[in-house]
Amino acid sequence: MLKSKLATRHPGSYNEGMAEPFQLVRIASLKTVPAFRQHVAALGLDLPCEDGIATGADSPLAQPVAGVLINGKRIGNRWAIHPMEGWDGTTTGGVTDDMRRRWQRFGESGAKLICGGEAMAVRSDGRANPNQIVITKENQTGIASLREALVKTHQERYGTTGDLVIGFQLTHSGRFCRPNDQRRLEPRVAFRHPLLDRRVNVTSAAQVFTDAEIEELIQCYIHAAKIAWDVGADFVDLKHCHGYLLHEFLGAHTRPGKFGGSFENRTRILREIVAGIRASGNKIEFGVRLSAFDSVPFQPDPAWSQPGTLGPGIPEEFSHCLPYRYGFGVNANNPVEYDLAETLQFVELCAQLGVKLLNLSAGSPYYNPHLQRPAAYPPSDGYQPAHDPLIDVARQISVVRQVKQFLAVRFPAADCREQPAVRAPIIIGTAYSYLQEYLPHVAQYVVRYGWTDLVGLGRVVLSYPAMLADAVAHGTLAPKQICRTFSDCTTAPRNGLASGCYPLDKYYSAKPEFQRLKAVKRNVGS
Ligand SMILES: Cc1cc2nc3c(=O)[nH]c(=O)nc-3n(C[C@H](O)[C@H](O)[C@H](O)COP(=O)(O)O)c2cc1C
Ligand code: SF4
Repeated sequence: MLKSKLATRHPGSYNEGMAEPFQLVRIASLKTVPAFRQHVAALGLDLPCEDGIATGADSPLAQPVAGVLINGKRIGNRWAIHPMEGWDGTTTGGVTDDMRRRWQRFGESGAKLICGGEAMAVRSDGRANPNQIVITKENQTGIASLREALVKTHQERYGTTGDLVIGFQLTHSGRFCRPNDQRRLEPRVAFRHPLLDRRVNVTSAAQVFTDAEIEELIQCYIHAAKIAWDVGADFVDLKHCHGYLLHEFLGAHTRPGKFGGSFENRTRILREIVAGIRASGNKIEFGVRLSAFDSVPFQPDPAWSQPGTLGPGIPEEFSHCLPYRYGFGVNANNPVEYDLAETLQFVELCAQLGVKLLNLSAGSPYYNPHLQRPAAYPPSDGYQPAHDPLIDVARQISVVRQVKQFLAVRFPAADCREQPAVRAPIIIGTAYSYLQEYLPHVAQYVVRYGWTDLVGLGRVVLSYPAMLADAVAHGTLAPKQICRTFSDCTTAPRNGLASGCYPLDKYYSAKPEFQRLKAVKRNVGS
């Protein structure tokens, strides 16, 4: 199934602007696994889950990852922590105590793969916010302290770190740069986009990166990778997702020159970064986070928006942009559907380049957040769900499964003693937080049956770092800590505040910023 059916399964939810908004069934109201299954079946989804939470050695989530070693280490279990950008560094990209606290909590999670930590800008003008980490020599000691805090906490709690693999996510925010002022976009783009330019104030050719500027940027990735290696990171995650620069280059069909047009040109940056890091003598390993598919930008349906309430999400008018040559993993004739043909070509390229970790995500938090982080409640710059967010969860799980199946056929598991030149990367899946109580049940199934190698955790780690550690150790969860996808961790930074789980993490609830956030939320849509 290379082309998506899920995107069209509920056409009314996207295109019929005046259709009655649907009524959300809250996950917490589904009190038993059979009730959850019944709801999933009513939605017509292929979203399997296990009957109960398995514990100890019986849990598929407790198994080490066979086969590929990262920096000589075998990843000790099957849950990973996704990168989560900070809005709480110094204005020169340095590290603060709030950041160290977040990394400590990553260590508390018990996850044996820290899949990027948080996006680190390879140079200061590439920051998505003025308080994002910049991975430079000046900030090296602080960045080292993040890793140390994580490792120390993990060691204290779990007694072993020989199977703990840590990477740093390297990024340039491209179209979504806000390096100097939270309220001021300073976009630098790969190409002029007929829909997104208006949203982010791209008005001139001078905002498009030249080929020479890209060559300079590649050097910044090489320098950043050296710092990552020097402070003990096992790998760098070369961020190709969420509308940021390297993701945008994958969709640069209309760009002339050596970094646009053909698939080969659109992937040249990745190849040059990898070659440059290797040529510098750096032995660090590689991961890639990829938006495996995308769509057009979405907006709140004006027919259902009113002061204080965002309407459900509908696609922006795109009929004048067909065939759609402005995205990656998108069906050019109907861009609200995905098309994995180039996605599979890209993951094959990653394997050939020696990329050992492939963390699959989708879309962008800025222009189609329902694809990227399914939620019951929208962030302030988003829209209400137009359909059950489980549809969006199932879509990501299905795409990850398709990629994994493809890689298994393309690069069959070889006898470990032979160490073949090219191996399938380890796959990490995304968008599990919305599953809430049933996250462990679904995670167990998808890992047990090889739909993914690891499940990645994003938002839920902010509210409940030890969720899967509790599941595996005790077979139970602490319901009050489960992320309910309130989106405050996104609404806060969209409004100039640091990210954090304000509703459920007492450290953030106690901050004066929580009151400001409540005021912002009262005014959403007005
Ligand atoms: C506050 C916040 C910050 C994020 N920052 C990053 C980031 O720096 N890099 C990245 O690749 N994804 C980032 N994401 C996306 C998450 O890694 C993850 O893909 C998303 O939250 C969906 O997973 P979940 O359903 O477990 O939350 C961020 C998400 C949140 C909520
Ligand atoms: S603010 Fe907390 S509960 Fe809300 S989405 Fe973020 S982590 Fe989840």
